[in-house]
Amino acid sequence: MASYETVLKGKYPAKQHARRVAEYLRKKNPHATGVLYLEAQKTKLIEDNDSDMLFRQRRYFYYLTGCPLADSYFTYDIATSKSTLFIPPIDAESVIWSGLPQSVDKALSLYDVDAVRTTDEVASALAHPHEGPVWAIANQVSDHISFLSFSATDFTLLKEAIEECRVVKDDYEVALIRKANAVSALAHTEVLKRVKHAKNERELEAAFIGTCIANGVREQAYHSIVASGEAAATLHYVKNDEPLEGKLNLLLDAGGEYNCYAADITRTFPISGTFSPESRAIYDTVLEMQHVCTNMLKAGAIWDTIHLKAHEIAIEGLLKLGILKGSPEDILKSRTSVAFLPHGLGHYLGMDTHDTGGHANYADKDTIFRYLRVRGKVPAGAVITVEPGIYFCRFIIEPYLKDPAHAQYINSEVLEKYWAVGGVRIEDNILVTDTGYENLTAAVKDVEEMGKIINGA
Ligand code: GLY
Ligand code: MN
Ligand code: MN
Repeated sequence: MASYETVLKGKYPAKQHARRVAEYLRKKNPHATGVLYLEAQKTKLIEDNDSDMLFRQRRYFYYLTGCPLADSYFTYDIATSKSTLFIPPIDAESVIWSGLPQSVDKALSLYDVDAVRTTDEVASALAHPHEGPVWAIANQVSDHISFLSFSATDFTLLKEAIEECRVVKDDYEVALIRKANAVSALAHTEVLKRVKHAKNERELEAAFIGTCIANGVREQAYHSIVASGEAAATLHYVKNDEPLEGKLNLLLDAGGEYNCYAADITRTFPISGTFSPESRAIYDTVLEMQHVCTNMLKAGAIWDTIHLKAHEIAIEGLLKLGILKGSPEDILKSRTSVAFLPHGLGHYLGMDTHDTGGHANYADKDTIFRYLRVRGKVPAGAVITVEPGIYFCRFIIEPYLKDPAHAQYINSEVLEKYWAVGGVRIEDNILVTDTGYENLTAAVKDVEEMGKIINGA
C-alpha cells in the first residue's frame, strides 16, 4: 500500500486547522475570543430545472471540518476549543429520491470535530448569550442566521486567517495531494498510450477523466487542457475538440481532485512519438528551466528570483536557437522574453488549483511579474507548481515584432520555423521542505520514456 494511503486512514485534521486559524486571529488581536462560524456550500438547482447543480464544497468550511456534506454549518469556540458540526437532518421528502442522509453518529466517527448536531438546531445554538464576537465570512451567512447574541461581528479576518493558514500543508493534506497526483499520473500515462492512434483531442480528454474515475478520483481539479499543435499556445485552452491529424505535439494540462485536494500536471509530447528538431530543442530548454528552478526551492526561497531564473534560461535557450538575438542582459531588461513566457512560474496548490495565500500583484507595472501568483518567500510545507513554458502564440508575439524596443531582439525569420511547435509547458507539484523539496509528481517527462510509451514499446 502506498504510504499516503496509511496517512489517509486517519481523519482529516480539522481541529488542528481550527486551532491554527484561532492562533492567527490571536496574533492579529491578542484578546480574540468568541466563536468562528462557517457554512458549507448550499445545494442549488439548475436554473429552470429540478436537477442539482454540480456540487463543490466550500473550501473555508472544509478546511475546518473535513466534511463534504452540503447545507451544513460549523462553530468553533475559541476559549474552549470546542468544535460543533451541524449536518442536515432526515427529511422524509428527500429520502424518497436520495436515500437516508448521513447520521449524526456516522458523522462523528468520520470528522475531526467534538460534537455533531443537526442543522435545525443552528439558530437556537447561536441565540444563546455569548461573551465575545463572532467571526464569519461576508456573504457566506444564511438569511435565517442571526448574530444578535454576540458582542460584535467580524466579517474580514476569518477569511484572511484561513487563506493564510492554507499555505502550509500538514502531512494529511500532502497525502491527499499525493493521491491526486498518483492517480493523475496514471491518467497521463493512459493518454500517452493512446495519443498516436487517437483522432481527436476529445478522445484523450475522455481517456484522462475515465482513468481518474476508474481509480477513485471522481472530480477534476480544473477543466483539462488537451491542446494539439498551435492550440498549445493558448494557456487555458479548453475546447478539446480538434482533430490531431497534421499536428506535431500535444500539451496535456490535467489533474484530478481527491477529497477536495488538487493535482495540477502538464506534459507536452510528440503525437507521433518523436519530436521534430525544433520541438525537441524547445522541450529541452523548458525541461532545463524546470530542473534548475525546482532545485532552487527550499524554505525561504524567493519565488520572484526563481521566476526570473526561468526567464534567464529561456533567453539563453532562445538565443542558442537564434530566435532571439542580442545580449541576454539587455533582453531580460527589456522584458522581451515575456512574449514567449507570458505567465508566472507557478502557484500554490491545495484545495484550489490556484491556491490561496500567494499575494499576487496583477497590477504590477513590470510585465515579467504581473501574472506571478506567488510573491516573496516560500515557506516549508507549501506545495507549489513549477511550470515553466515557452509558447509561440501569434496573438502575443506579433505586437512584439511591431515594437522596435522588442523587435530588435527577435529574429522573425528563425521564428517562422517554430510556430508549429505551438507551446511546451512542463508542470510538476513540489512540496517545499526546510532543506529543499520533494517532487510529488511522478508522471513521465523523459523524452525517451515518453517515446517508448507512445510507441507501445
Ligand atoms: N492548470 C492551470 C494551471 O496550470 O495553472
Ligand atoms: Mn498550474
Ligand atoms: Mn496546470
